[in-house]
Amino acid sequence: MNEILSMLYLWLKSAHLIFVIFWMAGLFMMPRFFVYHQESPVGSDEDAKWIEREGKLRKIILNPSLVIVWVVGLALAYDIGAFSQGWFHAKLLMVLALSGYHGWMIAYSKKLSRGERTMTDRKLRLVNEVPGIAAAVIVILVIIKPF
Ligand code: HEM
Repeated sequence: MNEILSMLYLWLKSAHLIFVIFWMAGLFMMPRFFVYHQESPVGSDEDAKWIEREGKLRKIILNPSLVIVWVVGLALAYDIGAFSQGWFHAKLLMVLALSGYHGWMIAYSKKLSRGERTMTDRKLRLVNEVPGIAAAVIVILVIIKPF
């Protein structure tokens, strides 16, 4: 029985990491899309194509991956009793921040599809650094478990 449970845990952890990769890929791609999208005139064919690409990235990659990473991550945490451990509290804080960033990106892609362009390219490129930094901190927290 214990063997089955530990096998299940490893399968869950694999699923977690697979969807973390999809989620992160989407988080890295979207602001790049925004930079190219903003170069096209509002209402042009190019604008319509970017709106469609961003919609697909949201619906096919970003939103499903976010949900799966959270559900499987919480199941893993329950399994190993992580809720009382310091590294997990810090990780939760980081993934909440990353989920907030996800929410901002979804909102900005909807703004772009309404023809509103409120951020400069420079700001978008800067913001693009957020998921990389967050991912590095999260990986160190889960692997090293410093506290
Ligand atoms: C969204 C909510 C998330 C929750 C609740 C969560 C929770 C967990 C838990 C409980 C583990 C098992 C740790 C262990 O077996 O020692 C784990 C593993 C892992 N998580 Fe997450 N996680 C989340 C998101 C993420 C994100 C966004 C990343 C990376 C950017 C990430 C990267 C990893 C890695 C690399 C492991 C493997 C650690 C190991 O095998 O030692 N997780 N996660």
